[in-house]
Amino acid sequence: MSDDLARLDRESLWHPLLQHRDQAAPRCIERGDGVYVWDTDGRRWLDGVSGLWCVNVGHGRTELAEVARDQMAKLAYSPLTMSHEPAIRLAAKIVELLGYPSKVYFSNSGSEANESAFKIARQYHRQTGSPGRFKIIARYRGYHGTTLGALSATGQAERRLAYEPLAPGFVFTDAPDGYRSSADAADALEQTILREGAESVAAFIMEPIIAGGGVLLPPDDYLPRVREICTRHGVLLILDEVVTGFCRTGAFFAHTHWGVRPDILTLAKGIASGYLPLGATVASDEVFAAFDGEPGDLSHFRSVNTYGGHPVVTAVALRNIEILEREDLAGNAARMGRTLLERLAGVASHPNVGEVRGRGLLVGIEIVEDRATREPASPATLAALTRECGEHGVIVGKTTNATPGLGNVLILAPPLTLGESEADEIVAAIEAALAKVLPASDAGAPSA
Ligand SMILES: Cc1ncc(COP(=O)(O)O)c(C=O)c1O
Repeated sequence: MSDDLARLDRESLWHPLLQHRDQAAPRCIERGDGVYVWDTDGRRWLDGVSGLWCVNVGHGRTELAEVARDQMAKLAYSPLTMSHEPAIRLAAKIVELLGYPSKVYFSNSGSEANESAFKIARQYHRQTGSPGRFKIIARYRGYHGTTLGALSATGQAERRLAYEPLAPGFVFTDAPDGYRSSADAADALEQTILREGAESVAAFIMEPIIAGGGVLLPPDDYLPRVREICTRHGVLLILDEVVTGFCRTGAFFAHTHWGVRPDILTLAKGIASGYLPLGATVASDEVFAAFDGEPGDLSHFRSVNTYGGHPVVTAVALRNIEILEREDLAGNAARMGRTLLERLAGVASHPNVGEVRGRGLLVGIEIVEDRATREPASPATLAALTRECGEHGVIVGKTTNATPGLGNVLILAPPLTLGESEADEIVAAIEAALAKVLPASDAGAPSA
């Protein structure tokens, strides 16, 4: 970027998650098209993580810009204390896609979608005869957002450390991690519910596939068993599909892979492909029924946010979903996900790669010091690998050290429009990065 922009950036902009002293010359992205973005120096990058896992339909869709322009010219803003067509149609579309009767509550982000889910769960129990149920069980390694409630449900120690104590009433259990543990995580959930006292537990929240915590895929029986355990103990099941929703894993919603139905579903990111900010909390009609009452009896959901369900945002989200359907991007994610995994076979055989795993276009590559001991590679090694992928023009994500000691997973979540040659570009960059940073004869020692 220009010296002037770099100076202004340094002087004025507080970047999320970055240690600013490291930021001598941050990439300054100027435009995007398909799976690519270009920086202000004219350099092209393949966006292997869709921004922050959100640009599902790819960059540069002028169609979405036109929808936004038209809606803004017609009605730029009106709150959902009244109603408007874009929000009605989007809610109806989400309910149609889910295939079961439910109600959609809009907010502005994944964090807020989860905050709303916790409030709905607690109020639900108060109004259905179990006022003592207030605890939310969440999972270690899961991520549910940055606001204090959502962070309280986030099982990643480093993200919490400077901000504790967080909200009371959040309890953790283990998530399945097939690579590092043979423990039965569904059984662990039931034990946690029993130890806490089922009559104190309002809800269990989980990502169907843990995303930022390292792309952790559950065994196939996990989600059906979780559903059964929650139902048996009167605990609401909240599925956080902020990352996995909207075709990322090869289906519109990841939970459909396992044939379960949540009580509450949270959505964001791919819902509008990052073109505008939007979060949604979807409650089944059984949950919604608990909020039914006479005007003034306080049984309604006493929550509001100014911009949730914004007409421009919901109009864009609706068209975004039309694009996902029209171009069968769930099908492409499923196909290209398989292709990517196949073509990563060479990567998978590298001595410092413990496992390559994924579903659809959500892929994790576990980097280890040593395959036999499975000792995780260091954050420095991961930083060197992502830097080296960048040298080859590909932006690749990674877990941070948010779960201490496990900042060792490279992450791929490219736009769902990914084509074969673009998949090859990603694979070639990772192969080159591994060859440079972890030459097979020198396994374990980062060269940078
Ligand atoms: C699974 C999951 N839930 C919730 C969130 C929070 O979403 P937002 O950043 O829009 O608040 C994220 C963000 O990465 C996420 O990955």
